[in-house]
Amino acid sequence: MRSIFDIPQDKITVAPSLLAADFGKLNEEIARIENAGADLLHLDIMDGHFVPNITMGPMLVKSIRPHTKLFFDAHLMIEEPLRYAGEFVKAGAELITFHIETEKDPAYTIAELRKLGCAVGVSIKPKTPVETVLPYLDSIDLVLVMSVEPGFGGQSFMPEVLDKCRIIRREINQKKLKLHIEIDGGIDEHTVHAAAEAGANMMVAGTAVFRHKEGAETAIQRLHAARPGEIF
Ligand code: DX5
Ligand code: ZN
Repeated sequence: MRSIFDIPQDKITVAPSLLAADFGKLNEEIARIENAGADLLHLDIMDGHFVPNITMGPMLVKSIRPHTKLFFDAHLMIEEPLRYAGEFVKAGAELITFHIETEKDPAYTIAELRKLGCAVGVSIKPKTPVETVLPYLDSIDLVLVMSVEPGFGGQSFMPEVLDKCRIIRREINQKKLKLHIEIDGGIDEHTVHAAAEAGANMMVAGTAVFRHKEGAETAIQRLHAARPGEIF
């Protein structure tokens, strides 16, 4: 399995969210953003319980896997992530990110996910305090800060979550940790700058990439152009 640390941490990377693609021609859509310079593919997995929407399961992930070389970043917005994580890894997911809000014992969940051989990420919703995730930073590969309420693409960016990115970035620097800060929701060529300045290095963008009027390549170039802040 490839390592998530093959993806650089010292510059801005872009993870287009498949949620904003035309599901009637998924392979074409994936090829389009791969050729346009995407760094990885963000897969939003929703169960209709943790969030009020249902998206894709392991079968769909498996069916797109042979058609792209992109790193598969699975964002599980589901209850009982451990029940399904193995199936997603078998289907080709290389990073499994679960929501801390679903778990009583996140350390256990992280340890169990490690056994699957995938990279491990933890996500926090906009209203979840950053303190909940800090104890786990030294045992994960990525923290995903949600900048919209999870459930749907196309929502407006919530700048109030940026302080959480700053706190996490400071902690990473102080403790010399090695993990990605991914931010997800309402990221576009305008909001990306504040996100990068606050310490996020990996930008999830659905609408802003798949539905950009000037095409995906322009969209990704503009996101890549954001400069990391001083606290990076
Ligand atoms: C929301 C998802 C996001 C979403 C991003 O629950 O986690 O990944 O698809 O979409 P945009 O970029 O359109 O806000
Ligand atoms: Zn997501």
